[in-house]
Amino acid sequence: MCSYRIAPSILSADFARLGDELRDVIAAGADWIHFDVMDNHYVPNLSFGPMVCAALRKHAVRADGTKVPIDVHLMVQPVDALALEFAKAGADRISFHPDASQHVDRTLQVIRSAGCSPGLVFNPAEPLDVLEWTLDQLDLILVMSVNPGFGGQSFIPGALKKIEQIRRLIEASGRNICLEVDGGIKADNIRAAADAGADTFVAGSAIFGQPDYKAVIDKMRAHLAA
Ligand code: DX5
Ligand code: ZN
Repeated sequence: MCSYRIAPSILSADFARLGDELRDVIAAGADWIHFDVMDNHYVPNLSFGPMVCAALRKHAVRADGTKVPIDVHLMVQPVDALALEFAKAGADRISFHPDASQHVDRTLQVIRSAGCSPGLVFNPAEPLDVLEWTLDQLDLILVMSVNPGFGGQSFIPGALKKIEQIRRLIEASGRNICLEVDGGIKADNIRAAADAGADTFVAGSAIFGQPDYKAVIDKMRAHLAA
């Protein structure tokens, strides 16, 4: 099982200063950068595309020169062409919603062949059946704990049961698959998500909504360590 990771979502960052925001949140201790791609079709909102990802890639570096993974969450339909563009734009991990792809297996292959780690994302009311046929191809599973489309929503508690179920599937598979949770994560509920089995935590408004990013990330890590 992988160790805990915090992945700030730049959806809640100041878009007028994205490069600076990225550097600040990395200096504050971000493990990954979560990049929410919304197309005003699969979800009722529009965010940013591969050109913004390419522009930010050079800023996603720690002070010691190591690369910070860019974790692209595609909320788009269709998926394949954009997934390829994000791979070219420097994405490290690319996740998509199975109901947004007509051929889930093909999309997973497209992402892997492009040199990225593929992941599947499950909305709050979406069943997990597809995992029976895809688990062996996944590096990441992302559980939505809000309905996708907007930052700043409240955590849906039913996500915990889904995380527990997926954790059991991952353990049974013996594969090293990251289990990420996304939506409404804050310092006061991160521990419950970890106890359910999550190891990677997306947080947008909780981090970028506060003046001191490091204070929030430190507090999250303290809850995880407690
Ligand atoms: C929602 C996005 C989330 C969102 C998280 O569609 O996938 O990543 O930005 O934002 P918070 O942490 O504010 O719920
Ligand atoms: Zn997301």
